[in-house]
Amino acid sequence: MQFFIDTANLSQIKEAYELGILDGVTTNPSLMAKEGIKGAEAITKHYMDICKIANGPVSAEVIATDFDGIIAEGKVLAALDKNIVVKVPMIKDGIKAIKWFTDNGIQTNCTLVFSAGQAILAAKAGATYVSPFIGRIDDSSWDGVNLIEQIAHIYRLQGFQTKILAASIRNALHIVRCAEVGADVCTCPLDSILGLLKHPLTDIGLAKFLEDAKSMK
Ligand code: E4P
Repeated sequence: MQFFIDTANLSQIKEAYELGILDGVTTNPSLMAKEGIKGAEAITKHYMDICKIANGPVSAEVIATDFDGIIAEGKVLAALDKNIVVKVPMIKDGIKAIKWFTDNGIQTNCTLVFSAGQAILAAKAGATYVSPFIGRIDDSSWDGVNLIEQIAHIYRLQGFQTKILAASIRNALHIVRCAEVGADVCTCPLDSILGLLKHPLTDIGLAKFLEDAKSMK
């Protein structure tokens, strides 16, 4: 399973990259706004800064919701760097646009996916990635990881090549469960990635080893 970081924060991207386990980055308009990025020029520069750090796919989301607008925006984004993946919402014109990008060699990430039916449509359009939002599904009292499992089953059975990118990850357990049920990629906040490090017995064991090591001096 690949690890992407779900942030537009450059220092967090650097920190995850320095761990040596980062395969890519996902952003969305909310994450970009949180960094105070404003205006076309600043947005372009920020995506290029992210691409300089992350040596892998970087999802950059379109704002347009009509076919012509999505294509125009996506072309500009894709031209910024070979690693840019155009992130397109799961709407009718979005599916049409994903098909167009696929036919024209541009990688896509179909975002805001909350059902298996939507994931089938994204795969039929040839999306490179499909992003089911598991944390938001959990928030609505359904099981987000079950959806990942269902999509993984369908894609395997039908031979779809679209990669399942588990998004809206809220904690380390989400990452483990996504790995168990066959997600291809998990995109996570830095806290959830670092949460994988934690176990109280590791802390207790290390403290004891360091204590005993003192008697060896
Ligand atoms: C990723 O691509 C999504 O935009 C993101 O994971 C959404 O996460 P949230 O539900 O925590 O906002």
